[in-house]
Amino acid sequence: MPSAEMLLESARRAREFARADFSHFLVGAALEGEDGKIYTGCNIENATYGLTVCAERVAVFKALSEGERRFARIAVVADTMAPTPPCGACRQILWEFCGDIEVILGNLQGETGRFRLGELLPMPFDRRLLDPRQ
Ligand code: THU
Repeated sequence: MPSAEMLLESARRAREFARADFSHFLVGAALEGEDGKIYTGCNIENATYGLTVCAERVAVFKALSEGERRFARIAVVADTMAPTPPCGACRQILWEFCGDIEVILGNLQGETGRFRLGELLPMPFDRRLLDPRQ
């Protein structure tokens, strides 16, 4: 299993591939599958702005498209002093596809925070609520 620092380092390396021509805010993510395999992602922006995809969702979709179904942790790195947590859309996708995973935040120097996804998304909407008897 990769250490938290290894996961952060993978996110740092993925961040270098970010396509952030408009915001210039580069983000990298590294998502760990249950057997320790790492799926990385970076943010990808484009001229419409609205079609931007965050680093976290790129990592989740890469992993799902390669057949991974269970996840342990995700590391997210940006060049900021304050921890940069996943945006609301990414929290939703992470919750639905990865469950209550650990979220490790970091910058170019080291770790800046550690949370459970359930702390970041305390009252989630998910498939359980689609059952009208709930
Ligand atoms: N971004 C991410 O990739 N992940 C986050 O957790 C926060 C924001 C991206 C989206 C956009 O490309 C840029 O950072 C500025 O919001």
